[in-house]
Amino acid sequence: MSTISEPLTLPNGATLRNRIVKSAMSEALGDEHNNPTQAQINLFGQWSAGGAALLITGNTPVDRMHLEHAGNFVLDPDSDMAQVSALVAAGQSGGAKILAQLAHAGRQTPEAINAHPTSVSDVRLELPGYGEPTPATESDIAEVIEKFVRSAKIAQDVGFDGVEIHAAHGYLLSSALSPRINTRTDRWGGSLDNRARLALSVVRAVRAAVEPGFIVAVKLNSSDFQKGGFDHADSVQVAVMLETEGVGFIEISGGNFEEPTAYQHASKSGSTQVREAYFLDYAAAIKAALSIPLMVTGGFRSVSVMNDAIDSKKTDLIGMGRPFISDPGFAAKLLSGEIKKAPAVEQDFPPADTLPRGAVLNWFCAQIAHAGHTGQPDLSMSVTEGHERYLAQIKLTTEKHLASRGG
Ligand SMILES: Cc1cc2nc3c(=O)[nH]c(=O)nc-3n(C[C@H](O)[C@H](O)[C@H](O)COP(=O)(O)O)c2cc1C
Repeated sequence: MSTISEPLTLPNGATLRNRIVKSAMSEALGDEHNNPTQAQINLFGQWSAGGAALLITGNTPVDRMHLEHAGNFVLDPDSDMAQVSALVAAGQSGGAKILAQLAHAGRQTPEAINAHPTSVSDVRLELPGYGEPTPATESDIAEVIEKFVRSAKIAQDVGFDGVEIHAAHGYLLSSALSPRINTRTDRWGGSLDNRARLALSVVRAVRAAVEPGFIVAVKLNSSDFQKGGFDHADSVQVAVMLETEGVGFIEISGGNFEEPTAYQHASKSGSTQVREAYFLDYAAAIKAALSIPLMVTGGFRSVSVMNDAIDSKKTDLIGMGRPFISDPGFAAKLLSGEIKKAPAVEQDFPPADTLPRGAVLNWFCAQIAHAGHTGQPDLSMSVTEGHERYLAQIKLTTEKHLASRGG
C-alpha cells in the first residue's frame, strides 16, 4: 500500500522526503517594510523540524500595492535579503524544502492598503473593507506577469526550492478564471482559454525565467462554489493546460473570500461534523486527467484517510494547514505512527453562526503569532480572545505599514 511515508520525485527531479506538505498560511508577521521578522523565521524552523516534506509560505505578494495583509512579506528588489535568506534557511534547517507562495491579491486587497486595486474587472468584492477595483489594462497585465517573474527570480536567488503561483481563493489569477468576476470581452475574458490566459502566461513566463530544477507549482480551486463562478469542469481543463506549461505539481483547494470553503468547521448550529478531506472527490477527477503529481488540501486529519487517498490514486501529496498551527511537530508523529490523527482543534469550536464572522480563522492567525513569538501555541486561549487579539494585530500592523509608506 502507498502511504504518506513514501518519498515522491517531482517531474523536475526534486525529491520530497514524504507526502506531507504544510500548505500556505498567511503568517502576517512581516515588519512595517514587509520583511520577515524573527518570529516568522522561528515558525519556519519549528515547521521544518516537525517532519513535513515541504513548507509553502503564506501569501507572498509580488506587488506592494496588492498585499493580502499589511503583514505579508514581499519578494521584490526592496526586500531585505538577509531576513528572507534567514527564513529560507530556517525552513530548510530540519530537512524540508520550501516554496514561496507568489500572489497578487487583486480585488481582495484590503481597502486600507489600496482603495482601487487592479483587478480583472470592476466587479467588487461583496464584503466590507475592500475598495473599488480598477480593470487591468494590457500594460497592467504585462506588469503583473513581469512582477511574478521578478519575484520568482529573487526567490531562486535567495535559495527557495521553488515557488507556488497562487491561482486559487479569489486573488487576481483566480478571479480571472471566474466568469462571474471576469466580465472582460478582450483576449483575457470570455472563453475558458481566455480566462485561463493570465494564469498560464504567468506560469509560462516564470517557468522560462528559472532553472529547470526550481519547482514551479500552482494552487488552483477545484471550484469557486459560486453560482456562475469557476466550476469543477473548468478546473479539470485548466489543470490539464497547466500541466502542458511544465508545472511541477498542482495543489487543489476551493472557494474565495465570499465563499470561504478552503477552511471549514461546523458552520451552523446543529449541523453534522464537516466531512474529512472535503475537496478529495473533486480532485480525483483532476488527478485522473493529469500525469504530474497532485496535492489536495483541506480537512485531511486521519492517517487512514490520507493513506487511502494516496493508495487509491486520488492524490499524491497531502496538504494541511491548521494542524501545523496546533502542533508544529505533528507530522513526524504521524509518520512514525505515534499518532493516528493530526490535531483537529477546529472541530471543538462552537459553530460559526454562533461566533463573529471569521472568529475561528482569526484564532488560528493569533496562534501563528503566539507560536512565532513564544515557540508554541496557546491552545487554552478562548476563541473570542484569539479573534480579538488578531483584530488588534491587523490594526497595528496596518497602521505601521501605512506610516512607513508615508500615509
Ligand atoms: C490562518 C490561515 C491562513 C491561511 N492563509 C493562506 C494563504 O496565505 N494562502 C493560501 O493559499 N491558503 C491559505 N490558507 C488556507 C490553507 O492553505 C488551507 O488550504 C486550509 O487551511 C485548509 O487546510 P486545513 O483543513 O488542513 O487547515 C490559510 C489557512 C489558515 C487557517
